[in-house]
Amino acid sequence: MTERLAGRIAIITGGGDGIGAATARRFSKEGATLILADKDEANVQAVCEEIVAKGGKAAAIRTDISSLKEIQAMLAFAAKTFGPAEILVNNAGVGSQKHFLETPLEMLDTMLEVNVKGTFMCAQEAAREMAKLGRGAIVNVSSHSSLLGSTGRSAYAASKGGIDAMTRVMAVDLAQFGIRVNSIAPGPIDTPRIRKQHNEERSQAWLRAVPLARIGEPEEVASVAAFLASDDASYVTGQTIAVDGGFTIAGLRVKNLEPRT
Ligand SMILES: NC(=O)c1ccc[n+]([C@@H]2O[C@H](COP(=O)([O-])OP(=O)(O)OC[C@H]3O[C@@H](n4cnc5c(N)ncnc54)[C@H](O)[C@@H]3O)[C@@H](O)[C@H]2O)c1
Repeated sequence: MTERLAGRIAIITGGGDGIGAATARRFSKEGATLILADKDEANVQAVCEEIVAKGGKAAAIRTDISSLKEIQAMLAFAAKTFGPAEILVNNAGVGSQKHFLETPLEMLDTMLEVNVKGTFMCAQEAAREMAKLGRGAIVNVSSHSSLLGSTGRSAYAASKGGIDAMTRVMAVDLAQFGIRVNSIAPGPIDTPRIRKQHNEERSQAWLRAVPLARIGEPEEVASVAAFLASDDASYVTGQTIAVDGGFTIAGLRVKNLEPRT
């Protein structure tokens, strides 16, 4: 594998599991030095140890991205351990599923607090350091729920839509500092969270709705994150890239459609 991220220091939030852990493994293979942050300390330490055991360079820190203090401590830890980070993958997030009429305001608050405010604070704190370097890449993780009106996603969609909207503004405001900002909108990806949520009916509904007719792998999101973080994406900023097997572009899908006469 070409080491597109050799010599780069990258922070990955939510690096203890799922997409974040897969991104950590991929970035390490591409030569990055990693700071892995997660509120689940045991998981993030385990991912870190696995990467170091394979010869990678990584350190882990327990961080709750809803706390500005903890985010500042994460950045100080990165700078002290390896140096200032020039890549941030803003992946940590929480999900929700409730009919709009039954969605409690506390659920909306949590989605906004972690997904919008947490992503915002991590990006702002990291970008201040990147601006001093005069370069950087931020990859935010939103969701297909930002792009389509799937059932029961009002609180989650509001937060993920916020991430895509602020990605565009960050990209414009940070361009003068040589910092690119993009987001990835994953479709259904096989992570612990999804495995907990998907019953048989839901799994079948997904398979019917995704043109590639399968659930994605965390590694398939990680490879797009690596592209966006690397110089291969040097002229890409402000974009949301769906990694969803075609879910968000699919229109009418009828098998054996007869031609019109
Ligand atoms: N898996 C999917 O199908 C899917 C689809 C669309 C979007 N996403 C998004 O991708 C990202 C990763 O999802 P995943 O499926 O890998 O989830 P996951 O639950 O498997 O992993 C998320 C990680 O983030 C950590 N985390 C949660 N809240 C945190 C906080 N406040 N501070 C720090 N760390 C925190 C968790 O401890 C966990 O290790 C999320 O932002 C999610 O919304 C996932």
